[in-house]
Amino acid sequence: MKKIVVAYSGGLDTSVIIKWLQTKYDAEIIAFTADIGQKENPSALEKKAIQTGAKKFYFMDLKEEFINEYIFPALKGSALYEGKYPLATSLSRPLIAKNMVEVAKKENADAVAHGCTGKGNDQVRFELAFKNLAPELKIIAPVREWEFKSREQEIEYAKKHGIPVDVTKKKPYSIDWNLWGISIECGPLEDPWQQPPEDAYQITQSAEKAPATPEYLEIEFYQGIPVKINGKTMKGLELISLLNKIGGKHGVGRIDMVENRLVGIKSREIYEAPAAVILHSAHSELEKLVLERELMHFKTIISQKFSELIYYGYWFSDFRKCLEAFINETQKYVTGTVRVKLFKGQCVVVGRKSPYSLYEEKLSTYTEKDIFDHRASKGFIDLYGLPLILEGQRNRKFRKQ
Ligand code: ARG
Repeated sequence: MKKIVVAYSGGLDTSVIIKWLQTKYDAEIIAFTADIGQKENPSALEKKAIQTGAKKFYFMDLKEEFINEYIFPALKGSALYEGKYPLATSLSRPLIAKNMVEVAKKENADAVAHGCTGKGNDQVRFELAFKNLAPELKIIAPVREWEFKSREQEIEYAKKHGIPVDVTKKKPYSIDWNLWGISIECGPLEDPWQQPPEDAYQITQSAEKAPATPEYLEIEFYQGIPVKINGKTMKGLELISLLNKIGGKHGVGRIDMVENRLVGIKSREIYEAPAAVILHSAHSELEKLVLERELMHFKTIISQKFSELIYYGYWFSDFRKCLEAFINETQKYVTGTVRVKLFKGQCVVVGRKSPYSLYEEKLSTYTEKDIFDHRASKGFIDLYGLPLILEGQRNRKFRKQ
């Protein structure tokens, strides 16, 4: 083995991985970190990676690509795994993998490595992407095969090899951070009966501490994509960052769930995703205004499958792309404005409008403005009820036998 590209976060695991791979394979190590809004200091990371033994360090700003190619398609597809999780971590893995493959090709590397455990979903997402995009690359997952049995053993190894370890940062949680949301696991969260301690949360205030007055926002969408807040045009990054900040202040975006992992385990997960929660609620309310009933109902089925594919690491599959083509077609009229109220941990949609609205006040009103033909309903019910009339007759006959 000559060269290995490692997905590097700067944490203990991936630091130990650099040294471990170097020793085991006698290879040149290239550390790769994607900037997806996790607020890392690139020069400090680079220093650490090189000090740990990496020959080269890549820090790639993938925020725009993440937003346009992953986050917005997920938003348009109402992608919420098991109805709740906005898939922040899941969406980032194929993006990181794709860019690692590009670096590996440029560098003429023979392998890629990641620091995921053998119990999680992330290993699957990384490896399915690697296998699909570059089957010639060898995949190494040190955490699945190395000798360390505990964090303490890793720390000992790190100290022995001069790897800088920041013990002051030692919190019991495992945290994965990007602009679409934060995933928090481990420590006291492993007991699904226990309320998450406040220090588990990174960017949201508790509802108790949130401001006592509500805040209203108007979010404008163009074909399913948010483009303005309170009348001001914004690029994706600015818009998502702003919503994370305002939502976090109001305690919006905390998600506490037990979810089904791909490997069969159930796990208790805490997420913080203010922007994702606000945008998903606003987007789906706008869809309710503009999508025809049957299309809207069918899209929920598509969304469920779409979310599963993202969670399962099927990002680069034709199946996901086909569903996305359907989803994009549904978004043609998802243009309009939604008013949300943020207050004490809640995001409530309180208004919606669209030039393509299918809502007709003349039809839904109970006042004298009503133009709906009430008499037409009789014939409609007669025919619509025909199958049930026939079934009722047959069942009464059957019971008498
Ligand atoms: N359960 C989530 C998922 O599978 C979050 C995983 C968090 N990953 C991590 N490295 N802490 O997408």
